[in-house]
Amino acid sequence: MPREMVRDVPAIRRDALGYLARTTERFGDLVAFPMPGRAALLVNDPAAVRRVLVERPRAWSKDTVQYGALSAVTGAGLLTADGDDWRRRRRIAQPAFHHGTLDVVAEQSVAAARRVSVGWHALPDGAVTDVDAACMQATLEVVGRTLFDDDLAADGERVVSSVAEALEVVVQRARTPRPAWLPLPSARRLARAVAVLDETCARLVAARRARGLDDHDTDLLGLLLRSADAEGGLTPQQVRDELVTLVIAGHETVASSLAWTLQLLAEHPEAQQQLHAELDALDGPPTWVDLRRLPFTRQVVDEALRLFPPAWVVTRRATEPDELAGVAIPTGTLVVISPWLLHRRAADWPDPERFDPSRFAGERAGTPRPTYLPFGLGPRLCIGRDFAVVESVLALAALLRDWTVSPVVRGGQVVRPRVDALVTLRPHGGLPLVVRRR
Ligand code: HEM
Repeated sequence: MPREMVRDVPAIRRDALGYLARTTERFGDLVAFPMPGRAALLVNDPAAVRRVLVERPRAWSKDTVQYGALSAVTGAGLLTADGDDWRRRRRIAQPAFHHGTLDVVAEQSVAAARRVSVGWHALPDGAVTDVDAACMQATLEVVGRTLFDDDLAADGERVVSSVAEALEVVVQRARTPRPAWLPLPSARRLARAVAVLDETCARLVAARRARGLDDHDTDLLGLLLRSADAEGGLTPQQVRDELVTLVIAGHETVASSLAWTLQLLAEHPEAQQQLHAELDALDGPPTWVDLRRLPFTRQVVDEALRLFPPAWVVTRRATEPDELAGVAIPTGTLVVISPWLLHRRAADWPDPERFDPSRFAGERAGTPRPTYLPFGLGPRLCIGRDFAVVESVLALAALLRDWTVSPVVRGGQVVRPRVDALVTLRPHGGLPLVVRRR
């Protein structure tokens, strides 16, 4: 283990992304971290990434600090579960993400973008507005209406701020693990935020039960409740854990991705013009059937996910001995895989920092691979991948059909907010952009 890395621990807290990049530049694609206790490895070698996530997923569990901290909020949901428990949960939830449900995602994404647009129309033309806040609210509404067939807009701000508050504590805990029973102020903040999420879930469940369950309900809440009513089905706690998991996994991720996409388009007016031309060729507001007529919009979304993968780090723990890149790995070893780093490997991505949607033109559009894994890879691939792509493409199309975004310029310099590498990649202090009617 490189001893000088021990000195760098505060740097990890200050600028985790920069630290990861410097570490692989100096020490290569397999680096042992200076962690107390069990060994921890940063894995940036594509073949080793494939081995962990695709070839031997059963040898690598989610029993890690990252997912442990997250489960303080989500409980044992689909995102954090392992083994047979995970397989059972995935089987129950999968039909809610079936291809046939994506038209509802499309419709709700366009409707949510339209509500953002109405809000912007109330501003003076050319106003500066926080597009991140708008994206957070919009994506929460899409999750609510598509997965729970309910309106989360009424709870919107409380749920958005509770998720943010809970995830802040999750990040603190993941960076500085302490016993959960310590009576720290952060434990009280977490309890308050989780109480709001519990209350929201209880309201969703009560409202659906009051409306009555129908065998034809294929939204996630309907599937979970029907499974709960079956012999040996999910317990109320398991239903709650799945609902919170879906709110957490399906809301901030897409919001971050949309916000960074808008920033990149604001910084690249030529790409925005090309996107506007594609949108102007549609017959009217975008719909589900227009999706295949939006190849450039899709490329923009794929490229933004390359440069700003919301899930910037994925972790696993070895449940048995393994070998990665010729190195023997003992049971218990933690591996850290960073899409942020893999998406910047110059061999696969020439001039990696350049925003160039044409990288995704043609056949390879968004195909998951070890050097492009915004949604993970292998059997634990994001269950909401198609949901997120459809939502991002159509929300972006619906919004930019009517609007042009440009960056805030201060002292002759384009302002790009600092990236906070929290549970997802968040724009520090929000993402202000200038919005103009087209
Ligand atoms: C741009 C948006 C999104 C990104 C970047 C993203 C990213 C990811 C990644 C990287 C994983 C795998 C984690 C791992 O292997 O450790 C994952 C899993 C998951 N995601 Fe997403 N996600 C997004 C949107 C969504 C949406 C919209 C939903 C649901 C509505 C969702 C629900 C989930 C769930 C439940 C899992 C766990 C799946 C399993 O292990 O079976 N995600 N996501």
